[in-house]
This record gives sequence, C-alpha cells and structure tokens, in this order.
Amino acid sequence: MDERIENARRELQTRFETLHVKRDILKAPELRRLYAGIKDVPAEERPAYGQAINELKAELEHLVSEAEARKADAQITPIDITAPYDVSVPGGKRPKLLPAEYGSKHPLMTELETVLDIFYRMGFTAVESRQIDDDYHMFTSLNFPEGHPARDEYDTFMTVETDKNDRQFIAPAHTSIMQTRILREHKAELERGQPIAAVIPGRVFRNEDLDARHEHTFYQFEGVYVDKGVNAGNLLAAFKIFLSNYYGQDIEIKTQPFYFPFTEPSFELALSCPFCQKKGCSVCSYIGWIELLGMGMIHPNVLRMADIDPNMYTGFAWGCGLERLVMMKYDIEDIRHFESGKLEFLRQFV
Ligand code: DAH
Repeated sequence: MDERIENARRELQTRFETLHVKRDILKAPELRRLYAGIKDVPAEERPAYGQAINELKAELEHLVSEAEARKADAQITPIDITAPYDVSVPGGKRPKLLPAEYGSKHPLMTELETVLDIFYRMGFTAVESRQIDDDYHMFTSLNFPEGHPARDEYDTFMTVETDKNDRQFIAPAHTSIMQTRILREHKAELERGQPIAAVIPGRVFRNEDLDARHEHTFYQFEGVYVDKGVNAGNLLAAFKIFLSNYYGQDIEIKTQPFYFPFTEPSFELALSCPFCQKKGCSVCSYIGWIELLGMGMIHPNVLRMADIDPNMYTGFAWGCGLERLVMMKYDIEDIRHFESGKLEFLRQFV
C-alpha cells in the first residue's frame, strides 16, 4: 500500500474523531492533495493508486454516514413504552410518540406501490384485503370441501372465541379470502359488459416453522379477472408483462401443473432468474428458474358461489407472495429481515 495514502488515512482518522461536523472530513486538504497527485504517479501505477484513494474516500464516507445516523438516533427522545395511555383520547392529546419525520417508508410498501401501479396501468383496480376473517371465506367459498385435507396445508391461526355459528375466527392465510367478495361486488358490472379486474394486496398469517424463506406474517397480492372468453393464455401473458415491468427486463415464464381447490386447471409459475438471465447463480440455486406463485382458471364452483354463471363467464386468479418478489429484485437473503425492525436493514432502502 502506498505510504502517502496510508499516512493520510491515519491522519484523517484521528482528525475525524475531533471534528464537530463529521462531513467536513470529506473536504480535507489531504484528500484533495492525494487526488491532485495522481498525475505525478508513473502511468502503470496510476490505476491502482487512483483506486486506493477512492477506497479511502469510500471509507470516510462510510464513517460519516454512520456518525450521522448515530447522531439522528441520539436526538430522538426515548418514549416510555411502559406508560399506559388511553387509546381513545383525541390524537392531539395523546403522549408524543416518535415524530413521523424520523420514519421512512418500509421497503415492502414502496415495492407494493410499484406492483399496484403496474397493474393499475394494465386496468386492474386495487382493493385491500383484511386481517381477520371466517371459515366461509378462507375455505368454503373457495371450494374446499368440509374436512378436506387441503384445509390443513394452510397452517391457519384461529381464535379461541367463536362466532354465532360456533366457528372460530381466522387470521387469513391467503388473500384468496377476497375472491368471492370481489366477484359478488362486481357481478352487476360484469353483466353490463365490464370485466372484473382487481388486484388485492394484504397481510397473511401462517403457523410456519421459521427459516430464511418462511415467515409467519407476510404479504400476498391476489389477482382476479373475469369476463366472457377469458383463457389461460390471457393469464400467462398478463403475468409475464407484469414481471417484465417489475424487473425492468424481459422475463421468461414457465408453468407446471399444480392443485388448488379453487382453480381448474391450476399452475405453479416459475420465472427466469432476473439476476443471471438463466445462467445460474446463488439467487436461483444455479437452476436459472425460480418458482414464484400459484395461479389458475377460477373453478366453476367459485364463480357459482358469487352467482356468476360459469357457462357464460370464465376468469383467472393468482396469489403471489410479495417478499419473494422483492427478495429476488434486491438479492435479500433472509425473509425475516422484513419484519425484524432492524434499522440497518431498513435504512438501505431509504
Ligand atoms: N391462495 C394460494 C396460496 O396462498 C395461492 C393461489 C393459487 C391464489 C392459485 C390464487 C390461485 O388465486 O388462483 O397458496
């Protein structure tokens, strides 16, 4: 390592500690002199020399941003989280919690907006899902027969309390709970010739064994499209357009048959790895393809649940996990980061 750079590094690190405005270190004359000296270095050593100075500058920038983040944290007045307060008092009279300007949008919400925006441009309206529901919407309306083993696959959380029919309430394990609601609500428009086209984001819950790919709380966005003469080709084309827009590159897709009670036929869709374009990398486990989501043609029984005649209308649906999609975009290795509340993770997306 060049001695001039090493000396400057030592000098600047010591000075950094004493500076009140940490950012001033980036304007230090030593740094300027190092850059100015590049032209006096023999041509063959110049690239390595220039790179070493850039590395020093990057180190200093890192120190500055860490110090600034620490300072911002220190300025936040800690709240007494144990203090009870009456949640029904008007907003202005509640104890001051963290001021909004210290917060930032969660990366999942930023990405969800991008997703909804793409579907909006394709003619889909967005409807939010819900966080508590019942057996009818979770299973029965989706053509899961009573007592069918497919119900167990969802590892559903249920409440101890029961409703008037003695049924437990359910923390939804998928956004498909919204399908019959959407179909019923828009049936009249469908009959007037307007297709049903909705994308339904929501938080879902499963009693999972947690690991880098499984969380108990995550997001899905459901899609529902119904009209006369809709076929599986329309579904695949729509999803390919969405994926290519989301990843900003042409994405290939492939399907394999699957089973869901609420679609027939049902597919699992895989996409070409957006990281390596099918060459094979750690994101796709060197396969080139990544399985992403379930989809299919809406089962006639599900249409019937909403009083829509399956002989007249057909439709498609999908349910896609949001975290998976985002993890592939940014090469995030562990799904648990999203709900961890870790500031080092969240700050990368500000
Ligand atoms: N609800 C399914 C799940 O979470 C995903 C899914 C599959 C949704 C096929 C759909 C669909 O709408 O058509 O496992």
